[in-house]
Amino acid sequence: MKARQSLAAAVLASALILPTATPALAAQEAPQKPGIEKQDTLRWAAPQDLKIGTAVAGGGHHETQPYPAPFTYDSAYREHLAAEFSSVSPENQLKWEFVHPTRDTYRFAEMDAIVQFAQENHQVVRGHTLFWHSQNPAWLEQGNFSKDELRAILKDHIQTVVGRYAGKIQQWDVANEIFNGDGTLRTTDNIWIRELGPEIIADAFRWAHEADPKAKLFFNDYGVEGVNAKSNAYLKLIPQLKAQGVPVDGFAIQGHLSTRYGFPGDLQANLQRFNDLGLETAITEIDVRMDVAAGTKPTAAQLEKQASYYQRALDACISVEECNSFTIWGFTDKYSWVPVFFSGEGEATVMWNDFTRKPAYYALQESLEQASPGRGNR
Ligand code: XIL
Repeated sequence: MKARQSLAAAVLASALILPTATPALAAQEAPQKPGIEKQDTLRWAAPQDLKIGTAVAGGGHHETQPYPAPFTYDSAYREHLAAEFSSVSPENQLKWEFVHPTRDTYRFAEMDAIVQFAQENHQVVRGHTLFWHSQNPAWLEQGNFSKDELRAILKDHIQTVVGRYAGKIQQWDVANEIFNGDGTLRTTDNIWIRELGPEIIADAFRWAHEADPKAKLFFNDYGVEGVNAKSNAYLKLIPQLKAQGVPVDGFAIQGHLSTRYGFPGDLQANLQRFNDLGLETAITEIDVRMDVAAGTKPTAAQLEKQASYYQRALDACISVEECNSFTIWGFTDKYSWVPVFFSGEGEATVMWNDFTRKPAYYALQESLEQASPGRGNR
């Protein structure tokens, strides 16, 4: 539900935006470092029931880069993270290889810190992810476990991780990327489906629900922006699961886009058909990469094209009633995964390395303001 504000609420909100100091007082104050104005942020501009999120940089590719852990050590990064966003997603800190490094140990310190940060800054948290074919530890993938052992390992992991953050995580990407592009299940590379059969998917959702009955449980995937074989497969699977009483609440579209390809113009229609099943939807990992030769900057035309992709994706979400969460996969190029994973492509986020804003940032801000003029989402 995205509540559009009433006129009365708009008047009230604008009355509450008081100048921070009178001109006379301001003149006496020491020069301030340029800060982030609360009213000049994405979360402020957003409609009340639309969370604006980002991935929180850490783990994964960051560990091979020549900088210290961003979330821990980059104070400017933390300031923008707190100011701009009403939702945060751990980029890697809840993936099996990170959070469950040996069979008998969990590594929760980094995720605990993210959850604490989110609480301090009135942000919700998206949990990512419990059931995936990628970024699993070697002890799991190469453990030669029996079916019973594997089932027990998955159940224990889900109960432990979801249980630890019960009440503190709003949405979980329970299952990530379970389908191939042609709409068949990943029966080879997903260890759970391969070893335990497709029925294990339903168990993963049941166990997550038992561990945190309030969390909203999602499927999440890439390449499902438009109406295609993969998104059709979800459209078929989810009602089947729901008919069996499996607690599935939502369908999430990652949204890793590239200006090499056309914008998926049927994104809104695709979100809508999941909405029509009574599901929540979300955009969970959007970035828009561009072809940029090493040592060069994108052209103005490239930046405009990128901005239009971000804006159209956000507009699609805003137009769909139960699309309640729009998350960008990192907000600054300084820490983006894109140049590490896509050779010759980059500059995929909405801020430059120094946190200055790109046209894409302003495009998002504009769409949010149009959806909800003057209303803060604190
Ligand atoms: C990426 C992270 O951004 C990198 O840091 C990591 O090295 C690899 O994974 N789909 C997903 C995300 O669901 O978890 C991936 O994140 C990007 C693609």
